[in-house]
Amino acid sequence: MYSEKVMDHFSNPRNVGEIENASGVGTVGNAKCGDIMRIYLDINADGIIEDVKFKTFGCGAAVATSSMATELVKGKTVNEALLITNKAVMDALDGLPPVKVHCSLLAEEAIHAALWDYATKNNLVIEGLEKPKSDIGEEEVEENY
Ligand code: FES
Repeated sequence: MYSEKVMDHFSNPRNVGEIENASGVGTVGNAKCGDIMRIYLDINADGIIEDVKFKTFGCGAAVATSSMATELVKGKTVNEALLITNKAVMDALDGLPPVKVHCSLLAEEAIHAALWDYATKNNLVIEGLEKPKSDIGEEEVEENY
């Protein structure tokens, strides 16, 4: 039911971890399943994402999509990263079962939340980026972990 790529990224997720003093951090949750995802972005002065890490308290599909999403945004500009949708991530993974499509939204939302954090910290306006709906504060996450 899962593609080989999903199984690969689930068993061997890329870019797991944290970035100290990250340029932007985004944490989002899915209210239905309770899963949580946090993404850290390291963005250089030219607006290029030099490094990205993620941590998730979530299902296998969330792990696989986050892993693939981090691979896709690494080396991209902020504006390019904004265009990486959950659909693009799913395509890169050769698809997800329909009941797991919502899991792929966590990665997209977490990237947007991290970009929003970066923009806010640097007083930037990133065209097309909206305030994340489900950004969760650090405190709430610590309580939930
Ligand atoms: Fe919650 Fe997959 S079931 S993210």
